[in-house]
Amino acid sequence: MNRTHRVAIVGTGAIAEAHMTALRAAGDRVILVAVVDVDMDRASAFAAKWGVPRSYASTRALLDREILDVVHLCTPPRHHTPIALECLAAGVTVFVEKPPSLSLAEMDELIEAERASTGHVATVFQHRFGPAAVRLRRLAADGRLGRPLLASCATLWYRDDDYFAVPWRGTWDSEGGGPTMGHGIHQFDLMLSILGPWREIRALAARRARDVQTEDVSMAVVTFASGAVATVVNSVVSPRETSMLRFDYEYATVEVEHLYGYTDADWSVHPVAGHGDLLSLWDEEKSDLVSGHGCQIEALYDAVDRDEVPPVGLADARNTMEFVAALYASAFTAKPVSSGEIIPGDPFYKSMEGTGAPWQ
Ligand SMILES: NC(=O)c1ccc[n+]([C@@H]2O[C@H](COP(=O)([O-])OP(=O)(O)OC[C@H]3O[C@@H](n4cnc5c(N)ncnc54)[C@H](O)[C@@H]3O)[C@@H](O)[C@H]2O)c1
Repeated sequence: MNRTHRVAIVGTGAIAEAHMTALRAAGDRVILVAVVDVDMDRASAFAAKWGVPRSYASTRALLDREILDVVHLCTPPRHHTPIALECLAAGVTVFVEKPPSLSLAEMDELIEAERASTGHVATVFQHRFGPAAVRLRRLAADGRLGRPLLASCATLWYRDDDYFAVPWRGTWDSEGGGPTMGHGIHQFDLMLSILGPWREIRALAARRARDVQTEDVSMAVVTFASGAVATVVNSVVSPRETSMLRFDYEYATVEVEHLYGYTDADWSVHPVAGHGDLLSLWDEEKSDLVSGHGCQIEALYDAVDRDEVPPVGLADARNTMEFVAALYASAFTAKPVSSGEIIPGDPFYKSMEGTGAPWQ
């Protein structure tokens, strides 16, 4: 049965608008009781715009004064783990923007804290929740597509110098990485949710055009436990922007090209001879929903209503964050890196920068 959830947003910048729009669309399942921002003017303006009753300058003040079910955490990445830990200690579920933390060490802190809390941590990876991605996972799991053989995953975006003038961007300490951690993560998280466990990464990273500490381009060759192989490219220096994923299964190619969100119209299925029924299976449930925050927020509150761990839970998010750490480790040490290899004591466990970028 649907319950009414008491919700707050922490961090009232750009992405908080997407959360707020989706929360409003969720109707009376949620009551937005308060917002928080260290910049109180920004918090008050946001609260006035959206009709939120109270604003606070810190998460501590919010947790001390409000009874809450869920906090939507929309601050820059550096603050994600400390604020999520405060919420978990108060028994409040956290829906944290990507990336959920700066490192695998922080992910393990969150996992430990979640075990001791009645709350959970879910990470925003909204593209997993578009109808086409849900359908593709189901068709693949049912064996309708045959074995996954090959995939390509490209996030070719453009971010100019003004974008990186915002102090928290382009730094290891605050953003935690470049387009691998902050941009391409959307696409390869979706790829990982479809292809299952990855086994090994060989990667390189470069700083080609932006005056940042991190990479502005990275690329990787990945092998999966299933035997499938994939290429992954992440860029913020590509003037014609696009986000592409292509899966070559035994019986069909399934591909999507979009930019910041897809609908069914952005996907296509190309079956081999004898598997034309895949087209009608794919078309059976066509939808024009966009893979934005709305789809995941619905799944979040469905799970909370059922007292289940909301998606994307910490175990899945850690898998994606380990992929990021392995990509940097392989790029910066010029060696292949396997799943499970980066453990406490490894330089890439505590920071995505690890042993240091070659350009520094
Ligand atoms: N899922 C997506 O598609 C998507 C898109 C854009 C950004 N993001 C993610 O959203 C997060 C925020 O990005 P943004 O573009 O909205 O940033 P932003 O700079 O526009 O907004 C961040 C806000 O957080 C506030 N803030 C900073 N520290 C705080 C603290 N300790 N407590 C409370 N408020 C604090 C800032 O004052 C600011 O108002 C990042 O993690 C980013 O990667 C996700």
